[in-house]
Amino acid sequence: MSAAEGPTYWLGNETLKVPAALFALNRKRLCDRLRNNKDVPKGAFVVLQGGEETNRYCTDTGVLFRQESFFHWTFGVTESGCYGAIDVDSGKSILFIPKLPESYAVWMGKIHPPESFKAKYAIEDVRFTCDIATILKEKNPSVLLTLRGVNTDSGSVCKEASFEGISQFTVNNTLLHPEIAECRVFKTDLELEVLRYTNRISSEAHKEVMKTARVGMKEYELESVFLHYCYARGGMRHTSYTCICGSGENGSTLHYGHAGAPNDKTLHDGDMCLFDMGGEYYCYSSDITCSFPANGKFTPDQKAIYEAVLKSSRAVMNAVKPGVAWPDMHRLADRVQLEELVKIGILKGNVEDMIKAHMGAVFMPHGLGHFLGIDVHDVGGYPEGIDRIDLPGLKSLRTARNLQERMVLTIEPGIYFIDHVLDLALANPAQSCFINNDVLQRFRGFGGVRIEDDIAVTASGMELLTCVPRTVEEIEAFMAEGDGKTQSKVVQSQEL
Ligand code: GLY
Ligand code: MN
Ligand code: MN
Repeated sequence: MSAAEGPTYWLGNETLKVPAALFALNRKRLCDRLRNNKDVPKGAFVVLQGGEETNRYCTDTGVLFRQESFFHWTFGVTESGCYGAIDVDSGKSILFIPKLPESYAVWMGKIHPPESFKAKYAIEDVRFTCDIATILKEKNPSVLLTLRGVNTDSGSVCKEASFEGISQFTVNNTLLHPEIAECRVFKTDLELEVLRYTNRISSEAHKEVMKTARVGMKEYELESVFLHYCYARGGMRHTSYTCICGSGENGSTLHYGHAGAPNDKTLHDGDMCLFDMGGEYYCYSSDITCSFPANGKFTPDQKAIYEAVLKSSRAVMNAVKPGVAWPDMHRLADRVQLEELVKIGILKGNVEDMIKAHMGAVFMPHGLGHFLGIDVHDVGGYPEGIDRIDLPGLKSLRTARNLQERMVLTIEPGIYFIDHVLDLALANPAQSCFINNDVLQRFRGFGGVRIEDDIAVTASGMELLTCVPRTVEEIEAFMAEGDGKTQSKVVQSQEL
């Protein structure tokens, strides 16, 4: 089946058609890898368990379902409660769907027969989950390869397939995880198309936010502009992560927007905004940050910090190509930012000495970027043999790998003025000697600037997937277009 034929996932209108062939190719790539693994015997079957529906606490209120990421990568099935099996030798797949009770037809809608799943997902064999042990037994597998492994970002272990009767089989739960995670690191052309789409829609949504932003608005109003655009125009019912919509000092809270700090501040005149938001389509992510002044016009200090971060971002983009070590890109970003902070006057002294004193992490405590795919912090960052670098800043990198073609990553340098981090640096003589505290005082409460783009590594460099106004001039011109409201971008009717 070619990508042009066969079923597609499509939400109509201008949304993207994603061919089921994307997942057939993923399964083929996985089987190819497993067949090349000398520890995988002939007759092995992969068995994956999809995600299950959950309710809010003890209630019967359902939580909107989103497929488990490995299962999605392999089968592209949106329904809950499924299993999938793949005969590694032949590459043939079986999808197991739940046998739904009659009440489903009353409350949830038509019960679709296995044939309709065959057609919907282009999977040759579809059976019921209650028959999984019997059907797999007929296949006489040498071993069932189930998925167990640690997510190197969260530290959580993925949910291994289990079903009644599995004890009759020989099971290996260690071989599959590194192989499938490695497959996920390298995006196919079909996957890149989806990531281009998630980036295009999310970029447009960010632009909508920038055009709408006014002093006096609430951060959550702008969050809702983003969500509305992504869903209404892009068919994105989910975001890839909780929206971070920090204005003013909130921009220095790296993961602002959580329930304890729920994007509820009013935008003030003179605030920088740091909005980190990404829409998700058919479980593929995007992760974009735009930083801009609430009133549409940068102050000299805002411009200086913004341009320092932009210079760092573009230095990394110019250096990215296969063979480059990602930690070296982090070091490059740090170096450029430190050089610019000296020019601004916040830092003084020799940049080489600052690097030795880990000054980069005082202003950018997070990693430069991470893999992106079905998960926003995608898997495969630390396979066996790649170790985390236990140094400030670098230890937060979600991968320390060398770049290769078809990896998709974020490039997200930033400069933040985090009181807690600054106070620690000022109390440390090895770091405080580089800080002009009188100048730094001016930036207390500034918040932060992050510039986050998504890129795909190509044979000779990189493809930029994100498309938003990035220079100071582009942002100011774009925000001035606005929607024809006041030039000063102040909502007069609201209390500021
Ligand atoms: N939005 C989370 C991150 O930038 O990694
Ligand atoms: Mn982000
Ligand atoms: Mn990110």
